[in-house]
Amino acid sequence: MRRDRYDNQITTESDAARDHYVMGVDRVLSGAADMATPFEAAIAADDKFVLGYSGLARALALSNDMSRAKAALAQAIKVSNGATTRELSHLNVMRLQFEGQAAKALVALKEHVASYPRDAIIVGLSTGVFGMIGFSGHKGREAELFAFTSMLAPHYGEDWWMLTQHAFSLCEVGKLAEAGKLVERSLTIKRDHSHAAHVRSHVYYEAGNLTDGIRFLENWMPGYSRAGMMHGHLAWHVALWALEQGDMDKMWAWVDEEVKPDASIGLPINMITDTASILYRAELAGQVVDPVRWQHISEYASKAFPRVGNSFVDMHAALAHAMAGRQDELADYVDAAKGFAADVVQDCAKAFEAIRRQDWASATTALSKALVDGARLGGSRAQRDLLEYSLVNVLLRQGKGEEAERIIGLRRPLRAHGVH
Ligand SMILES: [Fe+2]
Repeated sequence: MRRDRYDNQITTESDAARDHYVMGVDRVLSGAADMATPFEAAIAADDKFVLGYSGLARALALSNDMSRAKAALAQAIKVSNGATTRELSHLNVMRLQFEGQAAKALVALKEHVASYPRDAIIVGLSTGVFGMIGFSGHKGREAELFAFTSMLAPHYGEDWWMLTQHAFSLCEVGKLAEAGKLVERSLTIKRDHSHAAHVRSHVYYEAGNLTDGIRFLENWMPGYSRAGMMHGHLAWHVALWALEQGDMDKMWAWVDEEVKPDASIGLPINMITDTASILYRAELAGQVVDPVRWQHISEYASKAFPRVGNSFVDMHAALAHAMAGRQDELADYVDAAKGFAADVVQDCAKAFEAIRRQDWASATTALSKALVDGARLGGSRAQRDLLEYSLVNVLLRQGKGEEAERIIGLRRPLRAHGVH
């Protein structure tokens, strides 16, 4: 029996398998490129290594290779005779998630981490804004995530990964000073950690610190592989800041080279949400966006996400279809939204449809409803700013400047008053 870097027992008698496994886990946890290779090497060293296969499944899932990921998980289950109780519970959480049984998977995950708080791969299924809690649709899910990582953080000490995960939870409930300290510590321990660079960027964003934010990311990114899973999304952060600076050439360069689907080599969920988002935020900032861009992202949404269901994706797909004037595609979200925050998606889709018709009053009503608990959509505050700014925009178009200021003051006080 060997142990992983978090001191969990792992069923293998091979030191080589263990070493490759630890490397694979670290690549997954840091969002590094080429996550699968170390797990493949671990399995080559021990073809009965259960967590080697399940680690490979996780790595492939994060690379959007779901058919091979499912095959790897099936193989893990197949060779799991003789696995420990933790490993069997680990596999059970993974299986439920792969089968799309989100609610059961989250219950199983919480039970698992109560016994095995340092099983970082499993904990990591539920941290961040795209994890099982982020995409649960639960009311109060930002507080739920904060409670989750607050409970786990003491088990990890100065571990670079957990410092970052907890920092993101802190950031999303507005505890920016604490978040900044934790993520700085994480970056000091491990600089080549894309999730830390990401959370550092979010803390700068929430603090309204554009200058330091864009400087930090532009310094950090050259050392990060384009094949890394966070590359495209970090590029979106740079593009957003470039937009805020009014540097449109820089913004379009990042969008066209690193964010949009035919340029980025990142995850489809980032390509659709980040591209639709930056196009609309450019429009909100008064830029003219070529309609061809909306056509492209709308068509990509239909191709990459043919089934409605992930509310965060769906909100952005509805935006893309509305702006592209593709009414039939938009109808799926207005009339038949499904998924963990279907009601919020429906309000967003109605709002974008109204915006397309320049029916500002209807857009105001729908956006106001969507914003009652927009966090249920998942994603970060920075991403969901899209909705707040859309509401402000439709109010301004109706000459309701005071109301718009009040919305910003209530929802984004730092921007309005310089306070959190
Ligand atoms: Fe982000």
